[in-house]
Amino acid sequence: GEQPELDLKKYIREVPDFPKPGILFYDISTLLRNADAWQVATARLARAIAPWQPDLLAGIESRGFLTAAPLAQRLGCGFVMLRKPGKLPGDTVSLSYGLEYGQDTLHIQSDAIKPGQRVVVLDDLLATGGTLAASVQLLRKVGANVVGASVMIELTALGGRDKLDTPLHSLIQYAE
Ligand code: PRP
Ligand code: MG
Repeated sequence: GEQPELDLKKYIREVPDFPKPGILFYDISTLLRNADAWQVATARLARAIAPWQPDLLAGIESRGFLTAAPLAQRLGCGFVMLRKPGKLPGDTVSLSYGLEYGQDTLHIQSDAIKPGQRVVVLDDLLATGGTLAASVQLLRKVGANVVGASVMIELTALGGRDKLDTPLHSLIQYAE
C-alpha cells in the first residue's frame, strides 16, 4: 500500500561533499534497502504514471533502472534500457549531451520501440535535466511517443524541469 503517512525523505540519506566538494548528494541506497519504503515509493510512482497509459517504461543507466524495472512489472509494461556506450549488443542509436564538465552519451537498441509506442522515461533524480532531456530526444529518434517522465527526486532549484517538453512527475522535491 501507499501508507500516506510515510515520509520518504526520512529514508534518503544526505551526503555532503559527494562526489565533489560542495555537492550535497541525495542517496537513495538507504531507501532501497528498506522494504517498506521501497514498496511505498514504487506504489506512489505507479499511481502517478498509470494515467499516462504507457506501453513501455525506459530506464536510464544506472540508477534509473532501479526505478523503472519494478514499476514496469507493477504496471504490466515492457522495460527498455538507455545505456552508456559499449554496453548494448546489436544496432544502437545514440545521443550525446553536454554535462557541466565534458559530455556523456546514451544508447538504445534501434529496434527497441515500435513506431508510436507510448513510453514513459524514468530516472532516480533530476538535477540540471540534461540527462532526462537527452533521453527523451533519443527515444523519439527511435520512434517513441514519449508521454511523460518521472523521477524519485527533483532538485527544483536547478530548473531541470524547464528543459523538458513532456509532462514531468517527481515523487520528492528538494529546494536546495
Ligand atoms: C545522475 C542521476 C541522473 C543524472 C541527473 O546520474 O542518476 O541520471 O545524474 O543529472 P542531470 O539532471 O544534471 O543530467 P550519473 O550520471 O551520476 O550516473 P548513475 O545513475 O549511473 O549513478
Ligand atoms: Mg543516473
